[in-house]
Amino acid sequence: MPDNIIIAPSILAANFARLGEEIAAIDAAGADWIHCDVMDGHFVPNISFGADVIRATRPLTTKTFDVHLMIAPVDSYLETFAKAGADLITVHAEAGPHLHRSLQAIRALGRKAGVSLCPATPESAIQHVLDGVDLVLVMTVNPGFGGQSFIASQIEKIARIRNMIGDRPIRLQVDGGITSDTAAAAVEAGADVLVAGSAVFRGQGRADYAGNIAAIRAAAMADRATNAQLARAIGRMIAADGDGKELASG
Ligand code: DX5
Ligand code: ZN
Repeated sequence: MPDNIIIAPSILAANFARLGEEIAAIDAAGADWIHCDVMDGHFVPNISFGADVIRATRPLTTKTFDVHLMIAPVDSYLETFAKAGADLITVHAEAGPHLHRSLQAIRALGRKAGVSLCPATPESAIQHVLDGVDLVLVMTVNPGFGGQSFIASQIEKIARIRNMIGDRPIRLQVDGGITSDTAAAAVEAGADVLVAGSAVFRGQGRADYAGNIAAIRAAAMADRATNAQLARAIGRMIAADGDGKELASG
């Protein structure tokens, strides 16, 4: 599992009237990736924005554009999103009958490929594509809207998927209801990319974004820090066992 945690603010929660400034602000505030939620009013019961918005805002930052497609059908739009500037394109396992083909198409376009699971979908749905993806996205809300509550039953699924991934170089992303209260449980289960919309864009204004991102990152890293401290302590004990000094001195 990678040591670093990626924080990916979802621009779904941004002020759309000032979207460019909002993206520049989260970039400056410490966002690692820019998460773009594309909704079609068919796969999910909401319509957000499409490739033109991604094309227009792509030049505003050098950060990874992480494009989460909640659309069906999806295959006929992949090239458009790739050309608009998506670095990573995630499709839903539930969005069509030929998931493997969709993921191959994304990689053939030279982009990283992600696969997402709705809360109701078991991890067995992606077993056959694990050798062809760069990211797995576990939804911790029913997709369609920001600001919903984290569905805790997905924690065990995250842990099972982390186990399925094994040593493959695949990021494990969690999306929906992530706050400084829920981030630690997701990371402890094995997530290493956290999407957060309302928890990043809340507050009195853009001056709050850096603090919001830092609070999520700190909560996510708390578990890692504990493990790192434990590892250092164990290392000291092993070393001391060899020379007989440190254990004696405590
Ligand atoms: C939901 C989207 C999420 C959403 C997250 O369908 O995929 O990315 O914007 O928003 P919060 O963090 O507010 O739950
Ligand atoms: Zn999303």
